[in-house]
Amino acid sequence: MARGLLARLSLDPADLPRHVAIIMDGNGRWAKKQGKPRISGHKAGVVAVREAIGTSVELGIDYLTIYSFSSENWSRPKDEVRGIMSLFVEVLAKEVRELNEQNVRVRIIGDLSSVPARTRRAFEDCCASTSANTGLTLVVALSYGARADIIAAARRCGGGEVDQDAFARELSTAGMPDPDLLIRTSGEKRLSNFLLWEAAYAELYFTDVLWPDFTRESLLEALVDYQGRSRRYGGV
Ligand code: FPP
Repeated sequence: MARGLLARLSLDPADLPRHVAIIMDGNGRWAKKQGKPRISGHKAGVVAVREAIGTSVELGIDYLTIYSFSSENWSRPKDEVRGIMSLFVEVLAKEVRELNEQNVRVRIIGDLSSVPARTRRAFEDCCASTSANTGLTLVVALSYGARADIIAAARRCGGGEVDQDAFARELSTAGMPDPDLLIRTSGEKRLSNFLLWEAAYAELYFTDVLWPDFTRESLLEALVDYQGRSRRYGGV
């Protein structure tokens, strides 16, 4: 099925990104436009996450990293934070079977120590339950901030002789390929402390689409755009 789809879109199956990272922005504005509370935007965002996972699985992409909650998001109103943390628990319980059926392995990056115990356990259970899967790795950035991750890695390196590969092995993304394509929705054009080290050579793709409206077609459009780029990694 994926081949037919790729051909129709003139997507080259040999030139798909191995790793797609997404800053899922615009849930709040989506809800506001509908006159609904912000949490309904996050709920609609979950549907878009499911679709992005399905499309990535279908295309055979190896890694999908989603910025689900940043270290800065703790400063949001308590009600919204509580709502998002409960939503995670609800969604994970509901989706773990489907993730296993899709052969998706879930991995978490971020500072789990500040995440409420119930939410942390839900993520840990989901990671354990999917750990033997060999298809898409879904990396959930949760209470994640790239600067804190970099500082933690630097501390672990302990100031000795260190090269880039050794340093990268101390980051929470150790063992993962760097993102090839980084998508941000909702018209904002910044990295907001996401994968600052890893995205050094990522192709950046910005769209005005709000995250809950980001469909399978939106992701395919981003991939068509990606394949139009010429990646030179600083060379000629
Ligand atoms: C950004 O929109 C979105 C978030 C901070 C939360 C994203 C969380 C989900 C979509 C839940 C799904 C995650 C998993 C792991 C199932 P915003 O609130 O910043 O929107 P705004 O900029 O319009 O206010």
